[in-house]
Amino acid sequence: MSDQDRVVVFDTTLRDAEQTPGSSLTVREKMEIAHQLARLKVDVIEAGFPASSNEDFEAVRRIAHEVEGPTICGLARVVPRDIERAGESLRGAPHPRIHTFVGTSDINLQGQLRKTRDEVLKMAVGAVQQAKAYCADVEFSPMDATRTDPDYLCEVVAATIEAGATTINIPDTVGYAVPEQMGELIRYLRQRVADIDRAVISIHCHDDLGLAVANSLTALKYGARQAECTINGLGERAGNAALEEIVMAIRIRGEYFGLRCGVETRELFPTSRLVSRLMRCVVPRNKAVIGANAFAHSSGIHQDGVLKERSTFEIMSPQDVGVESTQIVLTARSGRHALRHRLEQLGHTLSKEEVDKAYERFLEVADKKTEVYDEDLLAIVGDEIRDVPEKYHLEYLHTISGTGTVPSATVRLLIDGQTKQESAWGDGPVDAAYRAIDKATGTAAKVEEYAIRAVTSGSQAMGEVTVQVKEQGRTLTGRGASTDIIEASAKAYLDALNRLAVATGIQRQHPQAV
Ligand code: KIV
Ligand code: ZN
Repeated sequence: MSDQDRVVVFDTTLRDAEQTPGSSLTVREKMEIAHQLARLKVDVIEAGFPASSNEDFEAVRRIAHEVEGPTICGLARVVPRDIERAGESLRGAPHPRIHTFVGTSDINLQGQLRKTRDEVLKMAVGAVQQAKAYCADVEFSPMDATRTDPDYLCEVVAATIEAGATTINIPDTVGYAVPEQMGELIRYLRQRVADIDRAVISIHCHDDLGLAVANSLTALKYGARQAECTINGLGERAGNAALEEIVMAIRIRGEYFGLRCGVETRELFPTSRLVSRLMRCVVPRNKAVIGANAFAHSSGIHQDGVLKERSTFEIMSPQDVGVESTQIVLTARSGRHALRHRLEQLGHTLSKEEVDKAYERFLEVADKKTEVYDEDLLAIVGDEIRDVPEKYHLEYLHTISGTGTVPSATVRLLIDGQTKQESAWGDGPVDAAYRAIDKATGTAAKVEEYAIRAVTSGSQAMGEVTVQVKEQGRTLTGRGASTDIIEASAKAYLDALNRLAVATGIQRQHPQAV
């Protein structure tokens, strides 16, 4: 295959997916994911939206200067200050890109921007020209392209290429397109825009109708050569096109598509799990390519077939995407070295202190569970290695529940180093524990979502709880894991409150400590 058949893989997990309520990341967490994306060998990392906050500016700046390999991109609206902030954050970086965008559909122009087509066209051209003063690599997105009048779209694309855009991205912002229409749109642009070959055509699809990956692949088939996507398909609303699905479709059906890409597919699984942990978003078991069931054959006929000849019912091997075929099971006799080694294979490179912390917890779990699986280890790491200061730490939890009993809970917390104990009753033991925590912390946070899942199978399995809470207009998600699901629930709630405390700088009135 020639160079023209190579697809540029553009990851926007740290920008588009990070906008998801409850999934925000600290700068350090962003750095960790960016380093892993570099190991995955994506071509471009969209690291953030520098004008949106000082944290985003700092994250883009550090990623652009410290993460080696991929091009690092910062997003900017077509306004001078945004371009300036993006340019400043990328200044001096080895491979910088500015990505500037503006809505071009009439719905956007009339309903939100209140501007004419001419005004928007001028703003787009001005932004690309301004961005060119900072770096040669400039991407332009006519947002809501799939609902934009095709002739106006061609006009904007032609003008922004003329102004110096080197990549033209076609976003299906609201996930409205269907595959054939998407293919036709790319064909139309290629026929109608004279200088289209001076830029790479990119595709950026949202998954509102579950068609993001299909639309992206069709666009590539019709001549797009950059795919914008996110790990685990995370993103606004129903999410973005899943990187792992696009990459494996290109790899497994390379002949059909006549395409290839440079992604190191064995890093897909570790990357997926790292993002899931840090963004506190569980990967569905049946998720294509990297879900826990993606390689599990349960029907007798399929099991028989796979045992005789793998290709009968498997189109890719678990190893291709980084799932180890031999599940290594650690026990209480396993040492720190084995733990560190296994965690590294799972995508987690920890410091010595972090390994010590994880090892202590691992021994507690191994004592209760006998065998500790990869999923348990990932839950332990998610629980112990946090990048958020622990304002509230759970010291003690006691619950009483049962048929004909009023469920009650007593919690003892360490709050900013001081002990505080409270009791409460509730509808069930989790509710009672949450009420006791509310009393102890003085929080007014509301629980918006609560989910529990067994990390592995069997009654000894660790339970992992994710809880989404809202306070002062901020929504954040906490996560906790334990073999005791009430304890996991309490830890998840406290994790969310700790994140809220950092995000909102909330100073609560704490009743006198005991
Ligand atoms: O979905 C979208 O249109 C975007 C743009 C900023 C490219 O994310
Ligand atoms: Zn988007």
